[in-house]
Amino acid sequence: MDQITFHHDTVLSDVHMLLPNVRHLMTRLNGVGQPVFISKFKIMSDGERNEKNDLCKCLNETQEPDELREEGEEITQGKDDEECKKEDLVPFLDEDGDLDIMHRPRRSPEEGGGRSLVCPIILQQSTPELEQEEENTDDEVDKSFGNIIRIEHTMATTLEDVGKQVWRGAFLLADFILSEPLMFRGATVLELGAGTGLTSIVMATIAKTVYCTDVGEDLLSMCSKNVTLNRHLMEPTGGDVRVRLLDWLQHDLCTDADTEFSWTEEEVADLHNNTTIIIAADVCYDDDLTDGLFQTLYRLCSNFLHSCTIFISIEKRMNFTLRHMDVSCDAYNHFSHCLSQLQELVDGRCSFSVEQLPNNFAQFLLYERIEQLELWKVTATLLPLDQGRSRPELISSGAD
Ligand SMILES: C[S@@+](CC[C@H](N)C(=O)[O-])C[C@H]1O[C@@H](n2cnc3c(N)ncnc32)[C@H](O)[C@@H]1O
Repeated sequence: MDQITFHHDTVLSDVHMLLPNVRHLMTRLNGVGQPVFISKFKIMSDGERNEKNDLCKCLNETQEPDELREEGEEITQGKDDEECKKEDLVPFLDEDGDLDIMHRPRRSPEEGGGRSLVCPIILQQSTPELEQEEENTDDEVDKSFGNIIRIEHTMATTLEDVGKQVWRGAFLLADFILSEPLMFRGATVLELGAGTGLTSIVMATIAKTVYCTDVGEDLLSMCSKNVTLNRHLMEPTGGDVRVRLLDWLQHDLCTDADTEFSWTEEEVADLHNNTTIIIAADVCYDDDLTDGLFQTLYRLCSNFLHSCTIFISIEKRMNFTLRHMDVSCDAYNHFSHCLSQLQELVDGRCSFSVEQLPNNFAQFLLYERIEQLELWKVTATLLPLDQGRSRPELISSGAD
């Protein structure tokens, strides 16, 4: 087997596609028979980040101008500007008059700036010997320093199961959290659509309590397993991650004790009384779900006891559509529309302001921070009492 093929209706996250050429060990089949893999993501130290930046700078400085040219530019090599302009206007035609398109020779993955193809032994079943071998690799040292996040995930899922993969938006948000520790220290945080739980885990290295929420029993079980796998990262600060069910299409939190990942009364009270931060990574990809997400945000913020700041990461995935006869991203357009609606909302209880944050903060995790990755901040401010209805009240946990 020298090539991986995926079923036509599945999607594979770039995070897993572009992982360095490591061995992907299939650890087990999950409850619904999907192969589960484990990936390790390293949180780079200041020194490692500086080293990486120096290396990039050094590579750029030592590269010949030819190597720095954009795709297709080598055709014009050695010609002056005027000549280039003239030639740009003349299409390359073959003898029958058909347009001849010149393809740039492909670089090998090794030359391609660290992007690698998915390793062909991706479906290797883990064995105790292989796991031991993995443990003995040089990142064992890093693990003891607590800077490796181990995440169980599946690959190439249907849209329904995208939460079982890690998406770049989770990394962008995690980087932001690690860049702004003072903003999150000691906070009570709610994550919506947490998927594998990576961002919640990073948040819990700084915050006090993180309610890590999503839907689907098998997804929540995987997420919960990831929290356990990474307990050592949260121990130094005592941060706590609680994996809970929160469906944007349901009005209320599930408190049915017979349902797994349901909320206790104490937790509902804590969420309501103490949450000041909500985070959500890569959660706007279907218009109906985006509507549900924004309704949930509105409902939660206007019932919380405190004003709240929401951080949402999104990846603008551009596609050519016949409808627009252009490249566009409908999901992103709908997200922008929902943001505007939230900002224009006048209900006398809560006001929302929206801003896009520059995404030039430090990068602690290794991934491609492409310009289509965006981070948005929504500030939900409770209005003074005389301007609106009564303030949300402190909810008693039932225990006191
Ligand atoms: C693209 S994934 C992002 C997962 C994770 N935040 C990340 O960036 O790696 C979208 C997430 O939204 C969740 N989601 C979809 N519909 C939902 C709903 N009705 N209520 C709560 N979460 C939902 C999915 O289960 C999935 O985990």
